[in-house]
Amino acid sequence: MILCVNSSPRKEATEYVMMKTREILDERGYETYLLNLREKEINFCKHCDFCLEEKECVFDDGMSDVYTALEEARGIVLATPVYNSGISAQLKAMMDRTRALMAKDPESLRGKIGMGITIGGDRMGGQEISLMQIHAFFILNGMIPVSGGSFGANLGATFWSKDSKEGVMKDKEGFKTLEKSIKRLAQFLDEYGRK
Ligand SMILES: Cc1cc2nc3c(=O)[nH]c(=O)nc-3n(C[C@H](O)[C@H](O)[C@H](O)COP(=O)(O)O)c2cc1C
Repeated sequence: MILCVNSSPRKEATEYVMMKTREILDERGYETYLLNLREKEINFCKHCDFCLEEKECVFDDGMSDVYTALEEARGIVLATPVYNSGISAQLKAMMDRTRALMAKDPESLRGKIGMGITIGGDRMGGQEISLMQIHAFFILNGMIPVSGGSFGANLGATFWSKDSKEGVMKDKEGFKTLEKSIKRLAQFLDEYGRK
């Protein structure tokens, strides 16, 4: 299963790109699971270190389903709107809460293939900076990050939405970066991915 995480609080550009991502993955024969973070109540990590002692998070909230999905996925696609040249607070909260997953089992995400998708309202609004933030999360958890490769999708899938779904639908270059990145994701899943 490929876990597709949508971290936008609105049903706009990121939601549309995620739908297209799942369509492409489906055409390639992959089962996907969509996680809309806006539908979950996810507390911020409060650094209480309960998880280091008890091997579970002190909060019993919307992260419970997210932990299960992260553990079961072979591949993880994280999609975020660009906020202040970085990822959304919703995605950051989810990332920080995986500390409990690592406390339980430091190998739980190791070897999974990770792909990022970033959507900014401006043409150059911080899409690549946000992708690097996603890649850093993958790397520090022992995952394998993919981009779309050189000649078009150097650091991964990046979109220019002009702040709306209608805007992102017109971003042909963005969809090229998505196609290339998914192609790489599929190759890496086949060659290196955990079965
Ligand atoms: C708080 C906030 C900060 C934003 N900062 C940026 C930014 O730094 N760069 C950018 O290109 N767009 C920025 N935007 C615009 C969004 O990235 C853009 O509207 C995107 O399409 C939002 O995703 P959505 O349509 O899925 O909600 C910001 C929007 C908000 C609400």
